[in-house]
This record gives sequence, structure tokens and C-alpha cells, in this order.
Amino acid sequence: MKKKTKRIKISLNFNNLMSDKIGAQGITEEDLKKVMPVVKKAMKKMREMRDDGKLGFMYLPYDNKAKEEVKKIAEGFKSKFENFVVVGIGGSALGTTAVFKAIQHPYHNELPREKRKAPKLYVMDNVDPDTAAGLFDIIDVKKTCVNIISKSGETAETTAFMKVLWAKMSKEIKKDKLKDHIIMTTDKEKGALRKIANDYGFASFPVPENVGGRFSVLTPVGLFPLACVGVDIDELLKGAAYMDSLLTKANSHVMRNPAYMYALVHYLHDIKFGKKISVLMPYANALKEITDWFAQIWGESLGKKMSLDGKVVNVGLTPVKALGATDQHSQVQLYVEGPYDKVTTFIRVEKFKEEVILPDNFQEEESLNYLSGKNMGALMNAEQKATEIALTKNQRANMTISLPELNEFALGQLLYMLQVATAFAGELYDINAFNQPGVELSKLATFALMGRKGYKEKLSELKTGKDSARYII
Ligand code: PA5
Repeated sequence: MKKKTKRIKISLNFNNLMSDKIGAQGITEEDLKKVMPVVKKAMKKMREMRDDGKLGFMYLPYDNKAKEEVKKIAEGFKSKFENFVVVGIGGSALGTTAVFKAIQHPYHNELPREKRKAPKLYVMDNVDPDTAAGLFDIIDVKKTCVNIISKSGETAETTAFMKVLWAKMSKEIKKDKLKDHIIMTTDKEKGALRKIANDYGFASFPVPENVGGRFSVLTPVGLFPLACVGVDIDELLKGAAYMDSLLTKANSHVMRNPAYMYALVHYLHDIKFGKKISVLMPYANALKEITDWFAQIWGESLGKKMSLDGKVVNVGLTPVKALGATDQHSQVQLYVEGPYDKVTTFIRVEKFKEEVILPDNFQEEESLNYLSGKNMGALMNAEQKATEIALTKNQRANMTISLPELNEFALGQLLYMLQVATAFAGELYDINAFNQPGVELSKLATFALMGRKGYKEKLSELKTGKDSARYII
């Protein structure tokens, strides 16, 4: 029987960004009022873009057809294979890793099959030769399914590892069975992967045209691998739809809209104080990879040279990843006493999946007795509160997202809220949050450097001058 997920709302508390709490380093109701014309314009634009179908990711929580298709195919793969390998990079990998780590057992791959009840997951998102070769020491390709994911269908990192896998699989798997091990997720029509999927007869999923890579976790890009490794994608999408309904209800009232406020407070701290660093610091190991996912969507969407009307603006908020409580013993000294250049977001989980009670031993050591009988989760949350207090007392801008529990419903809400926040921040900054010319430039440069046909000219354009020996030590 399917486990019952508690459906509780997540919350955003931004008190510690306001002047009431952090004095001269905080924003005021007056600041909020002053910026209202920009906010209203951005809200109007969001409504228009959604109605025009330009914000494709906002329709995903309701795409039942895609979800049912994913579930149907995933059912077969889940029971048939021991390993599930995702080959993809950026938006084609980060969402899968983030949700998998947040939801599944922390040692999923090490668990015996009867406990895991799903394949092991490996996400190959880099062209590191040692990691690539090392994978074959631990997986048997005959028991492995491979999901090649690339919206463009041409990305060098993804296609390079696909070549390696295909060679290995072709050697070890009988020809007539080979294509049952591969599934591709790519554009409906364009790109090398689509052509290969058609020519070789591989099963495939389309990536919706109006959903960019970093907004695609709730398309088959994320949903298919997640369903195959045992994540409840119904609940994930329900959580996203629930957040969407909250945001829609609050649409005309920005102060009630957590996604819009998340973007707006960052924007205000930037334009008023020049705080251009966004730290995301979950207090749960399971949420560590959410910071990788967020770093991409926030960094790649908002880091832009040009405004929508063609002015050079060079805007962006630099995402920094941190983990509580680990980074209390690493970065927090800097956050509390260093420059006033950051807005920190804590994520806390009110109720962890497991209860670990600290035993009442070593009683002779009086200094340790305060821990006895306490829940380890309570210690984690006290550490979050303690860091929040230290930051606030030192007038450091911070806010907290609280997840009542770590389940698919809560995570769906969080992902959706941060996606909408990113799109809205794009409107506040008046930039295109959905393109990535900087990434494209380095993709093209890679093609040129690796000798791809048709890119020779690009190579000469990319010359940056000779390195001077004087500056090489
Ligand atoms: O958000 C984006 O569009 C990018 O970061 C892509 O996700 C990334 O470059 C991978 O591209 P692709 O899925 O086309 O291989």
C-alpha cells in the first residue's frame, strides 16, 4: 500500500530582513512602498507571460498526461533494472539529484534491494574520466538502464559519456536487447539525441519547448528518473500545484506571496545596500543538493549583461551553498562578522524522518548531560536558531523557510516557490531570466576547441592572446 504523505504548507519568515530586527541594515515598509510601481509592473508581466504560455514551468503541476506516461514506463524500468544511470548536466541533472537526496534513504544505493525497492541511482553529470571509468567497476551494464537527458541534444558532456556507455553496452548486451536499456529525454524534434532516438528506435520523452533546462525538474527530465528510483511524483506535483494555488490566491497582494517576496527582499537588499550574495543554508543533510539546484536556477537566470530594453546592466546575485550545522564550523564566522554583502536563507525541517534520542550515558561528565534524552533533530534545529540569532544580533540579513516535514509534498512546494521567485526576480531586474548566452558561449567554445566541424571560425574568434611567461610562476 502507498504510504500516506502529510500535506502541510511550508512557510517563509522574513522578519530578520526588516529594519525592526536588523536596524540600519534592514529594509523598511517605506522601502517596500517606494518600489511598488516596479513590483506592480513585474506582477502584471508575470500574469501576461503565464497567460501567453511563456512560463511553461507553471503548467507542469497540472500536466497529468505527461505524469501518467512517465509512471507507466517507470513501472517497468523500476522492477527490471538494478541500476539507473542518468547522463545529463545542469538542468538535466540537478533537480533529479536534489529531489532524490531529499526524499530517499541517505544510503539508498547501499541498501539491499528488498529495502530499496527500486534501482540504485547514479547521476553522471561531468566529464571527469576517473568518475566515468570508475562507474564500470561498480555497475554491471547488463543490469543497468540509462537515461540520456539533454534538452538541446548536443551538450558535449552528455554526448561524450553517452558514447562511452554505448560502446560498453554494445559489447556486453545482446544486440536485440540493447535498446531496452536506453531511454532518451530531449527536444521533440531538434538535436542529435532526437535523431539518434528515432534512428535507433530508443524509447524517449520530449522536453516541453517552453520549459528551459533549469526549470525542467517537473517535466520527464526529473520525473522519470525520480519515479524509477521510488519517489512519489504524484505528491511532488501535488505540492507544486498547492503552492501554485497559494501564489495565485495571493497574486494581487505581494506581501502574501512567498515567491514574490523571496525575490523582492533580495532585490531590495541589493538596490539599497548592494548585497549581491545569496546564501542558501539548509539544516538537513538531505537538502544539501537543493543548494546545487538553486545555485543554477538563481545564478544562471539572474546573472545577465543586458536589460530587456538593451542596456548593459551586468546584474546578478551570486548563490553560495552552505550546510547547517556543518558550515557553522566553517563559513558562519564570515557571515556574522565579515562584509555586509549577503542575504542568507535558512531552510529548516520541523520534523525529521527519524527520531534519534541521545542516550543518558557518560553521566560523570556534567558538561555533556544537557544533551541526554534530547532528540538529535532538536539539536539540529537549535543550531539553526542559534545561527539565526547570531546573524540577527549582528544586523545580518537572514530569512527562514520552514518545512514541516521532509516529504514530496513539501519539496514540490519548495521547488515551485523558488522557480516562481526566480522568474519574478528576473522581472524586477528587467532582464531575461530564461536565456543563458554566457553558457552558450562556453558550449560553443568547447565545440571549437574540440574540433567540431563548422566551428573552426569560432576558434579564431575566441583567441584571447598569448599568456605572458612573466605571469606564470
Ligand atoms: O538551464 C539551462 O538551459 C542549462 O543550464 C542546461 O540545463 C544545461 O546547459 C544542459 O543543457 P542540455 O539539457 O541542453 O544538455
